[in-house]
Amino acid sequence: MDFKLPNLHLPSRPKGSSLSFGKKQPLSLGLDIGSHSIKICEFAQTGRGGYRLLALGSALMPPDAMEDGALLDPGAVAKVIASLVGNLKIKGKRVAFSVSGYSVIVKKINLEVMTEAELEKHIHEEAEQYIPFDINDVYLDFQDLHTNTEGEERTDVMLVAAKREVVDGYLDMLRTAGLKPVVVDVDAFALENAFEANFGLRDNVVLIDIGASKMNINIISGGISTLARDVVLGSRQLTEQIQSRFGLNHEEAEALKTGAQPAGDLRPEIERLFAETCRQWVAEIKRALDFYASNYPDAPIDKLVLSGGGARIAGLADFIAKETGMPVEIFNPFAEAEFNTDAIDPAYLEAIAPQMALAAGLATRPVEF
Ligand SMILES: Nc1ncnc2c1ncn2[C@@H]1O[C@H](COP(=O)(O)OP(=O)(O)OP(=O)(O)O)[C@@H](O)[C@H]1O
Ligand SMILES: [Mg+2]
Repeated sequence: MDFKLPNLHLPSRPKGSSLSFGKKQPLSLGLDIGSHSIKICEFAQTGRGGYRLLALGSALMPPDAMEDGALLDPGAVAKVIASLVGNLKIKGKRVAFSVSGYSVIVKKINLEVMTEAELEKHIHEEAEQYIPFDINDVYLDFQDLHTNTEGEERTDVMLVAAKREVVDGYLDMLRTAGLKPVVVDVDAFALENAFEANFGLRDNVVLIDIGASKMNINIISGGISTLARDVVLGSRQLTEQIQSRFGLNHEEAEALKTGAQPAGDLRPEIERLFAETCRQWVAEIKRALDFYASNYPDAPIDKLVLSGGGARIAGLADFIAKETGMPVEIFNPFAEAEFNTDAIDPAYLEAIAPQMALAAGLATRPVEF
């Protein structure tokens, strides 16, 4: 075992401390293994505490290789990752990746204030009541959010558990791909990290990642995650609807959806399908907003921030803004990064940016070597 694992990394930067300040820290590769595509990203730190983007790219996930966050065909996935790394001429081997789905439980619990060491001892028995799996079958991690006040000797603790079997499947697969996993994260926290690395956590924001098969909603308020929810809705729904409505195969439907193939006469019907699906997404967003508003009435949300391939759907941001009455932005995780325009095409970067949010968040995790 080459590292104390798995370090299910929670928002790991201690509050108030900055990642760098003069001192450069080594970074690992960020790898987002999505059900539609695998995304990779590599940064270096600049002396000024910023980031330089060295490499990024994506490759399609082999069909049926993954289900609800678990790998079904690790051999095929390892092959795709190895060739992606090779094509991008990435030399680094250390990699941060994230997990999500039924095998990952994220819960905020409220406990008496304890020292880190006491918490470490106590957390196991505490966790048992919140985790629907045998406690011996999961990797556990926690972070004290230090929400205690002077008069209140209780604090919120973020608890994360992930099934060993699923995480170990990823670790074996990554080693087969020739990489060295050093950080295991959770999708929602990696996204938060990407946002924080660019814009800090001053505003109260709703981060919404719309992937192919899931939508993740993470409300950050007062610098911490107050609600993190995975919903089994995503952009693949649209492809499937276009496929069945017009009797097309997957590739044809995908091309129509992304605009690679002009819609022509089919446009009105495709727009109708878009509106129908996007309304379901909006309903989920509104549900989360209502829940938040009733629990945190004094900390209104400033804006919604969209990422994932779904965020690239033309007109989606405006649609959500209209339906929720909130400002909506598309997340650019490279907003503050330097890069060499000879090596990375700015137009490609701009187009793919929202889809790379998770990979970028993973790639900006500080790693202890
Ligand atoms: N320009 C575009 N317009 C519309 N949809 C797009 C566009 N580009 C990509 N997509 C869609 O985005 C989805 C892929 O997004 P993403 O890479 O975020 O998913 P993923 O991370 O693989 O999936 P998940 O997180 O759900 O496992 C696909 O369904 C794809 O069709
Ligand atoms: Mg994804």
